[in-house]
Amino acid sequence: MSRGKNIVLLGFMGTGKTSVGKSLAKRLDMTFVDMDDVIVQREGKSVSDIFAQDGESHFRQLERNLVQELSAESGKVIAPGGGIVLNPDNISDFESSGLVICLTATPETILDRVKDDKHRPLLEEGDKLEKIKSILDKRIDLYNAISRQLPTDGLSVDDVVDNVIELYR
Ligand code: S3P
Repeated sequence: MSRGKNIVLLGFMGTGKTSVGKSLAKRLDMTFVDMDDVIVQREGKSVSDIFAQDGESHFRQLERNLVQELSAESGKVIAPGGGIVLNPDNISDFESSGLVICLTATPETILDRVKDDKHRPLLEEGDKLEKIKSILDKRIDLYNAISRQLPTDGLSVDDVVDNVIELYR
């Protein structure tokens, strides 16, 4: 793996992609890209507003365009939204641009990390733990298909960063 390649941190909501990604980028002196943040900035509205006003499929197309753009770049730590695995083309583009790692966590850990957040439209209605379990259940084969998996339960951000760096070197 050349050091110019990207590192892509996939995973369900609340698996630590953003916090691990930020810290990892600092440690490796790479540029961190949070895909949701880029989309929000470019669209001038929140992810929840994009879902509500333009629909989820529009959001997925914005993600798809950004994956293609970022996969042509190098030296970036990239944190996509949890739904990026829904389009297999996203995974093959990322795989060809660098190291792809899937962060994992149990539904209970995920709930603990996202329970106070207001910006995740898919978890807005109903019981959050049930919602997490049901979406995770639908997507589990897609996450499991990523060859490099890193569990994050009970680990600090620094611990997970250490584990990513071990895979990278
Ligand atoms: C989504 C995850 C979110 C965000 C959007 C949809 C998903 O990102 O992209 O709410 O489908 O899992 P995070 O994984 O950063 O929360």
